[in-house]
Amino acid sequence: MKIAIFDSGIGGLSVFNAVKKSFPQLEIVFRNDQKNMPYGDKTKNELLLLVKPFFDQFQAENFDIVIIACNTVSTTILSELREQYKFTIIPVIPMIREASLITKNKTIAICATPTTLKSSKYSVLKFKYGQNLNILEPDCREWATMIQKKQINEMKIKQTIEDILNKKCDVVVLACTHYHWIENDIKKICFNKASVIQPEEKIIAKLKQLL
Ligand code: DGL
Repeated sequence: MKIAIFDSGIGGLSVFNAVKKSFPQLEIVFRNDQKNMPYGDKTKNELLLLVKPFFDQFQAENFDIVIIACNTVSTTILSELREQYKFTIIPVIPMIREASLITKNKTIAICATPTTLKSSKYSVLKFKYGQNLNILEPDCREWATMIQKKQINEMKIKQTIEDILNKKCDVVVLACTHYHWIENDIKKICFNKASVIQPEEKIIAKLKQLL
């Protein structure tokens, strides 16, 4: 069983580490497109062009499963990729449904890239699970690049999170895999005011089911 994990940059590495820990015996490779990162401000057509060579290569190398550890790609071009490639694709999508099940204040925050927030998949998720919720979408557009370059502006992140907490948000959804690297910092800021959720466990469960 050949498994690949793909992202624009080091966000996918966090997913890779989590998956590898759960399945140490599996052959898993991690590939990313650091040269063209960030993906979070790209259009659908730009993403299709950038992702195609990686997916062609996965096909040529006979991978069985590809995990798209990138919300931006998963919410924007998943159906096009599923049409073109025959291996199984596991996407990551913003956990609005999960957040809707645990919020008490009916106020959640989706931390995501601009392209994810503009995607039609995201609109569908909001329509399906978020109609009774106040969904905050803080401006995180610089976060992925800050994290990729390891130049994290802690003050800026703190201000953004404190602002959503002041608006009574009690679930923070990390809907960009780069943000997994600052999950513990965000948890500290949220302390007992909000839960912070991200999809690694869900990906692992999906993979278990497929294997
Ligand atoms: N890590 C990616 C995501 O989950 C994209 C970050 C970026 O390249 O902007 O959306």
